[in-house]
Amino acid sequence: MISAWAVEAIARLDDEMEQAGSTPLRAFPLPAGWGVRLWLKDESAQPTDSLKHRLARALFRQAIAAGQVVEGATVVELFGQVGECPRWVVVGAGTGATSAAVGRHLRSHDLPGRLAVVDPENSAYFPGWASGAADYSTGMPSRIEGIGRPRMEPGFAPDLVDLVVPVPDAASVAAARQVRQVTGLAVGGATGANVWGALELITRMRARGIRGDVVTVIGDAGPRHLRTCHDDTWAEDRGLDWRPHAARLERLLDGGGLW
Ligand SMILES: Cc1ncc(COP(=O)(O)O)c(C=O)c1O
Repeated sequence: MISAWAVEAIARLDDEMEQAGSTPLRAFPLPAGWGVRLWLKDESAQPTDSLKHRLARALFRQAIAAGQVVEGATVVELFGQVGECPRWVVVGAGTGATSAAVGRHLRSHDLPGRLAVVDPENSAYFPGWASGAADYSTGMPSRIEGIGRPRMEPGFAPDLVDLVVPVPDAASVAAARQVRQVTGLAVGGATGANVWGALELITRMRARGIRGDVVTVIGDAGPRHLRTCHDDTWAEDRGLDWRPHAARLERLLDGGGLW
């Protein structure tokens, strides 16, 4: 029997979800004529500035009602917004829940889009996925907040992932800065990794004459990131030289490729 308090708490959570509405899908400008569009699902527009907002709400709701977690709400909403299924969906993996939710959605709806996971340095997802060794351990923490783990987390579903793209940390920093230039949002390194990975895939698509949409996620944004990847000293102290990567990005957005 569910208590009056629980009913009220769930109603409030549902109310908050309704009021929050859907997060915007932003276009990341690419050279005209490529026939490829890059979309950023902006989860920084959540009340807590983070893609974890939905998960937290769902977990609270589940804990209160002992019902089912509505995991993957971002994913379902995203596919509704894009219209045609994107060629690629690109996300990072921390707990692995986001990528698993995308993978499950693609497979269970028999969609043609493919799932790419970006992985920072020192993380086990790329070597673990590529080698098929689920217990692969790097013994090193990730420097990119929110994504990358020394071991694959149980929430990660390697079988649902079509490609894992290793992204140099300095490239994630460069891409985070680029996203800020384009959108004005102070995004973190995880979003930078997402966008770098998406641009790598777009470069591959262009080389093969493939057109279509690529979608990735702005995982979070906020002033605290001004003290991390958008701060020269922070990056330099960590030996993260974003400049050559920023130059590559500029070349790409001028109509060239990433390589
Ligand atoms: C900022 C940020 N944090 C975390 C993640 C991954 O979260 P998780 O694997 O824990 O669901 C992403 C995914 O793209 C992200 O953009």
